[in-house]
Amino acid sequence: MREYPSDRVDLRSDTVTQPTAAMRQAMMEAKVGDDVLGDDPTVQSLEQRVAEMFGKESGLFVASGTMSNAIALRTHTVPGDEIVCDRTAHIYRYEGGGFAALCGASIALVEGDKGLMTADQVASAIRKADGSGSHYPNGSLVCVENTANLGGGTCYDQSTLDAIAAVAKERGCGTHIDGARIFNASIATGVALPEMCQAYDSVSICFSKGLGAPVGSVLVGSAEFIAKAHRWRKMFGGGWRQAGLLAAAAHHALDHHVDRLEEDHLRANKLAVRLNTLEGFTVDMSTVQTNMVYVTCERPAAEVAAVLAEHGVDVFDISPTQIRVVIHLHITDEDVERFFSVMQTAF
Ligand SMILES: Cc1ncc(COP(=O)(O)O)c(C=O)c1O
Repeated sequence: MREYPSDRVDLRSDTVTQPTAAMRQAMMEAKVGDDVLGDDPTVQSLEQRVAEMFGKESGLFVASGTMSNAIALRTHTVPGDEIVCDRTAHIYRYEGGGFAALCGASIALVEGDKGLMTADQVASAIRKADGSGSHYPNGSLVCVENTANLGGGTCYDQSTLDAIAAVAKERGCGTHIDGARIFNASIATGVALPEMCQAYDSVSICFSKGLGAPVGSVLVGSAEFIAKAHRWRKMFGGGWRQAGLLAAAAHHALDHHVDRLEEDHLRANKLAVRLNTLEGFTVDMSTVQTNMVYVTCERPAAEVAAVLAEHGVDVFDISPTQIRVVIHLHITDEDVERFFSVMQTAF
């Protein structure tokens, strides 16, 4: 599907998707109200729908994945606490240090494999203030990311997710899933969302990534957790008024853009196999599980990205040696072909 006029192929991220004509129509027709006053029926139905889809009691519609994670982290922790996550986690790398600035929390980093932690690693990373003679911060939250973006779009297997939650619970920690791309994870693993998230207290779900909505995330959890989160959303300036316009886009995405994620995964996989035939570029196929392809380049990744850009193809040089290619709603087979032929001929 390619609905926006562009002579470029934008493979930087699945966040670059633009609302389709049908999504814009759904937004135009949305019934709205003042959500701060609890009056917006489209926001309310979205929150309820997403909570039910994930087997949780309640949901909270917010502006972004970063806001959803920040509210979750703040709801789970108090200043002086510590959060356990993988060293590549979005909450650690790319959320402006919100864990420190907004929560007053420190982070215990785990050296996971392809962005995925094990239960043993998590168990040894949890430090408790109690029994430490007041030396340690208080490890109170374990956060997993599924799919793991910097791992290559990798997915946890269910037994690991459950085992991590079990060790967290045993040590009195809350559990949160950064599920920015959790629909991709569910489709790739075949694990249903309620089962995947059953052992976790809260889950953040994004609509502005592969699902193609312009804005919006929903945080789900128990009614008690979401009531507390609602207050933090207000304090972070995230109470909004006629947000039903945006909730309608998310509803539309749930209706039309979930099942098709499988197409993105297939395109990414086929592309990765072909990239491995090119000299000077390699893809670790074990990381290609969803819609992302991380390509290791013999020449500097920034140079590769610059040459691709000259040919009308945009990718991110995600590290000095890797470019990231993300397949999404607007990427067609022709777009993939154009990217591949530049890779084949320009280097
Ligand atoms: C894994 C992950 N979590 C959270 C976010 C944050 O989402 P947003 O950009 O909507 O704040 C992103 C953004 O790409 C992400 O990849």
